Amino acid sequence: MNNIKKLLRPGIAALKPYSSARDEFTGSASVFLDANENSLGGPLEEDFSRYPDPLQMPLRQALAALKSVETDQIFIGNGSDEAIDMLMRAFVEPGRDNVVLLPPTYGMYAVQANIHGAEIRRAPLRPDFSPDADAVMAVSDEHSKLLFLCSPNNPTGQCLPDDFVLDMLQRFPGLVVIDEAYGDFAARPSWLQRLAEFPNLVVLQTLSKAWGLAGLRVGMAYSNAFVISALNKIKYPYNLNAMTIRLALQALQQPESVREKVQVLLSERQRLERELPLLPCVEKVFPSDANFLLVRVTDANNIYHFLCEQGIIVRNRDKELHCNNCLRITVGTPEENTRLLTSLCEL
Ligand SMILES: Cc1ncc(COP(=O)(O)O)c(C=O)c1O
Repeated sequence: MNNIKKLLRPGIAALKPYSSARDEFTGSASVFLDANENSLGGPLEEDFSRYPDPLQMPLRQALAALKSVETDQIFIGNGSDEAIDMLMRAFVEPGRDNVVLLPPTYGMYAVQANIHGAEIRRAPLRPDFSPDADAVMAVSDEHSKLLFLCSPNNPTGQCLPDDFVLDMLQRFPGLVVIDEAYGDFAARPSWLQRLAEFPNLVVLQTLSKAWGLAGLRVGMAYSNAFVISALNKIKYPYNLNAMTIRLALQALQQPESVREKVQVLLSERQRLERELPLLPCVEKVFPSDANFLLVRVTDANNIYHFLCEQGIIVRNRDKELHCNNCLRITVGTPEENTRLLTSLCEL
């Protein structure tokens, strides 16, 4: 753990965080004249006059129970994009440190690295999308603070092999961030179960995908208490609004309904995996552990525009490394998937 403590930026380690009015008071009271809110309330029917809980305790307790972790191992952000931002802020010294990426992968890692003045070191996936452990170690040094492993990976859809991830957890000099945004669609278990074994492990999850709550903006980082306290120390005090906290709590009471929807999406994914290769314009459907498929077509740009004209928007990944002529297609409702297949058939 001492090695992990050394990864934190010295300025962040020394930082005295902002103490909000609601942080300072922990007893019970009925008259709150401490935070300059409007005690008469707002114009809406529902009352939003009070600042929300900065520590999001009930929500963290619900997640702790659901995921079998401790509340001090959970950071909740305004989407997991906020967790990526906070990891950069806490651990990357601008102009000195670097982060390691395995393209093609989720674009936000590079955007955040650029925002934070982190050098980007790349260890590309091979053309078959398998990772190259030696390439990762070859570009890493003592200033490599974060390694982003997206598993299942966006846009390829595949999980990274366990032995590769284990190797990285043992050898990478900084934090290994496993982004499991699509983990609920995968057959392999979450790396969350291995949190106690690896002090350098950070797992990202989100309510935006399998939980169907992209509009609410809730994402989590799970790690040891030291890393999580660093993230909580630097986040905006009220990063989750009261409405989001309330609705996310309601949603977490209903995991069964989420499991049912995931089952529907998985069987629709199988259907697309079966039917897309029968179309003349489709050359290859890559195997997927996620709720989308990477599909190599005869002419990605033409087909992308053709589908747009039909009112169907997919993601053109033609310019991404090893993804020439590839479209990334989200698994939709059964009706949406039928429309997609019919349109591609007409092409
Ligand atoms: C791999 C990956 N991580 C994170 C995110 C962002 O998720 P959130 O909505 O929680 O910010 C996405 C969104 O597409 C994603 O593909």
